[in-house]
Amino acid sequence: MTDSSIKPLRIKDLVMVRGTKAVVHAIRFEVQPGQVTALMGPNGAGKTSTVLGLAGAIAPAFGEIWLDDVDVKGWDADVIRRAGIATVPEGHQVLRDMTVRDNLLLAASFAGKAEQKLGLERAVELFPELKPRLTVMAGDLSGGQQQMVSIAQAMMGNPKYLVIDELSFGLAPTIVARLAPIIRQIAAQGIGVLLIEQFTQLALLLASHAYVMSRGKISFDGSPVKLREDPSILHRAYFPVSDSEAVGLA
Ligand SMILES: Nc1ncnc2c1ncn2[C@@H]1O[C@H](COP(=O)(O)OP(=O)(O)OP(=O)(O)O)[C@@H](O)[C@H]1O
Ligand SMILES: [Mg+2]
Repeated sequence: MTDSSIKPLRIKDLVMVRGTKAVVHAIRFEVQPGQVTALMGPNGAGKTSTVLGLAGAIAPAFGEIWLDDVDVKGWDADVIRRAGIATVPEGHQVLRDMTVRDNLLLAASFAGKAEQKLGLERAVELFPELKPRLTVMAGDLSGGQQQMVSIAQAMMGNPKYLVIDELSFGLAPTIVARLAPIIRQIAAQGIGVLLIEQFTQLALLLASHAYVMSRGKISFDGSPVKLREDPSILHRAYFPVSDSEAVGLA
């Protein structure tokens, strides 16, 4: 059951600049605790730039990121993680020449020994297939197993919010099918999951609330059911009219 006293993660008027160009234009959205929220959008929409802002990897140019009653916008990445927002970056970035155990322990290096041990126990509980592989080099794992390590790393610090950038990208459908119930399980623990996906199938399956992003703006904010029932909403976001016209003119 979700504790209704826990506040959502609230993002207000977030502006992200890459190079000299604003690529995220004052977006607003919320991530509810204990639920999966989807943020979908086509290639180049600004999803990863948003993630980098939330994670503190790139300081937002403007806006607010409210975690409980504190605005963490512009905080350092490790401080944000300790405060409770953990990120699984694009492309399961494990340290290939380190064992799975060391990858996990390193992700919780800020914590004490007891907390690290608990984190390891939680990780193998979530992903039993990692247990016999703790001493294996992370680079020797399959893509799916590396994604598991990446999620387990983010879970090591017992976060309040988990931001996953492209969970399904590059993974076989069978692996995605294995990961889907785990994402549900994480949300059922009370953690607010923000699932960022270019491909919409998984996000629409798991999410309680969905946002669609297009050209740096939120173009849809509502129920995933509505997106399933009316595919034209996603179609418009993924294939804007100006692009079709350009194709027509070519
Ligand atoms: N390092 C960078 N320097 C300059 N511009 C960048 C950089 N990275 C991304 N951009 C630009 O920022 C915009 C948003 O890119 P972003 O990676 O946030 O999109 P995305 O929605 O995550 O796309 P994808 O689905 O391909 O992951 C794009 O126009 C992209 O070209
Ligand atoms: Mg991206």
